[in-house]
Amino acid sequence: MVIPANPEKSVSSHDSGMEWWKKTTVYQIYLRSFFDTNADGIGDIQGIIEKLDYLKDLGYETLWISPFTQSPQRDFGYDISDYHSISPQYGDMETFEKLVQEVHSRNMKLVFDLVLNHTSNEHSWFKESASSRNNPKADWYIWKDGKGRNGMTPPNNWRAMAGNRAWTYYPERRQFNYTAFLPFQPDLNYHNPEVKQTMFDVARFWLNKGVDGFRLDIISAIYEDPELCRNPASFRITPSDKSLTIFFQNLKNNFLQAKSFEFATELRSVIDEFDHPKRVLIGESHGNEELISQFCYSNGKNGLNAIFLFKAISMPFKAEKYREMLMTFEKHFPEPLIPTLVFANHDRTRIITRLGGSIEKAKLLALFQFTCRGIPFTYFGDEIGIPRVRIPLRQGKDAIAIQHKWVPQFLVDNSVEILNRDECRTPMLWNEKANAGFCTDSAEPWLPVAKNFKEINVEKQRGEPHSLLNFYKKVIHLRNETPALHQGSLEIAHDLCTKRILAYYRVYQAEKYMVMLNMSNSRAINPMKDVELLLSTHPQGEAHRLQPFEGRVMKLGSA
Ligand code: NOJ
Repeated sequence: MVIPANPEKSVSSHDSGMEWWKKTTVYQIYLRSFFDTNADGIGDIQGIIEKLDYLKDLGYETLWISPFTQSPQRDFGYDISDYHSISPQYGDMETFEKLVQEVHSRNMKLVFDLVLNHTSNEHSWFKESASSRNNPKADWYIWKDGKGRNGMTPPNNWRAMAGNRAWTYYPERRQFNYTAFLPFQPDLNYHNPEVKQTMFDVARFWLNKGVDGFRLDIISAIYEDPELCRNPASFRITPSDKSLTIFFQNLKNNFLQAKSFEFATELRSVIDEFDHPKRVLIGESHGNEELISQFCYSNGKNGLNAIFLFKAISMPFKAEKYREMLMTFEKHFPEPLIPTLVFANHDRTRIITRLGGSIEKAKLLALFQFTCRGIPFTYFGDEIGIPRVRIPLRQGKDAIAIQHKWVPQFLVDNSVEILNRDECRTPMLWNEKANAGFCTDSAEPWLPVAKNFKEINVEKQRGEPHSLLNFYKKVIHLRNETPALHQGSLEIAHDLCTKRILAYYRVYQAEKYMVMLNMSNSRAINPMKDVELLLSTHPQGEAHRLQPFEGRVMKLGSA
């Protein structure tokens, strides 16, 4: 990709006026599981308000909350039935407005999930659209005639991202309806200008309430090929760097269309109507970095401010692999673009479980995440090391688990990746009281709390100087206080990198810092002399040797 002289035109990162979202840190709150204040076993908006000081104290600036508007909750809010009102199980508009106010009074930002791609099939728009071929909303969703003599064969072979067939037959219209995710989440038709304007107005409605921006759910699916060309077969089951694959099909024609990049630039002009303060758009897309960087900049125009880079989630914990990943991120998201640093979310396995339960590795990963160039995202509870909680597929409340309940359990148990997303959505562990302090004793949490909550919880780790929680706090504060770490450039120290060591510099004006990570289980020489040690994952280490899995941030002389 050729990076133009000046996308994100007004400000370069060496300007102290760098935009807030490039320097920010994001904490993702899975609302249902964060903190319940009304004893129904489900987290709520008031619960976030009550925990804001916890997040502020850790040093996070931006909060991203999962969807909370009206929904039948078949995909826990990612199936919206009304974009303008709040689901009563989470609170009401007054409480939401209070949340915005409380967040801003702490100099923090609030971003939430905007599900533009699809609605619930219980949305009144869809009900109307599905009722006949000639109602006013007939063209609001994607409808096609079937093939074959009786029209009962789907229009093409497309699969949805969730693995199922992308087409569902509706007898009322005698047509097939397209869904990029699950069959109860019909895709809106963005070729229809009325739909586009309605959804842009949804964004404006919330921006007027003071929201600082959006995480754009499954933005990769916003357009599909209007010719409905068949998707080619693939050898893979899951997406790779090279292709967006699901269950042996490359989703080439129903995802990542050129028109979607153009859409990103249109949406950017909507949020740019709101200038004080500037708002942010962070897109969710799989796909290779070169391709998806076009969501941020295409055809001479700025698009989304950032796009999730999921490569890090499944990256083997190896110095060489991390170095390659950094090189890729820097290549496709050079300044003034910015990469994202994402290691977990509400769809994927918990970090600590991926790392085999190692707190040492979790600290090292946090050191990496908060010291390299990019926007770091923490999924709630990873700061204390909440593990994957095993919940059999057959007991799953998650729609993906329900869809896959036929999969033999032993296959899931032996896989690092989860199929039942309940396993990474279990409640926050606040203390050692009943239900880990997530809800009252008398309430039943909507998902079970991790069994070892007496050992792993916020209150306990607060009191332990070397806990994972206190390490997160230290590294986030160091990042916040050090311009080079939150807005400096990044140079990989190739001469110091080995199979075991990853080293890079962060530079801002005359200040230069080195971050060195020993990603192996043996000691390693630290060749850096005359440096000031600012932070180590192993505070009792030796000056000239790095302990197994030790990482350090060091200040060098003038650059
Ligand atoms: C991606 C979200 O992360 C996931 O949780 C959701 O189920 C799908 N999009 C569908 O909206």
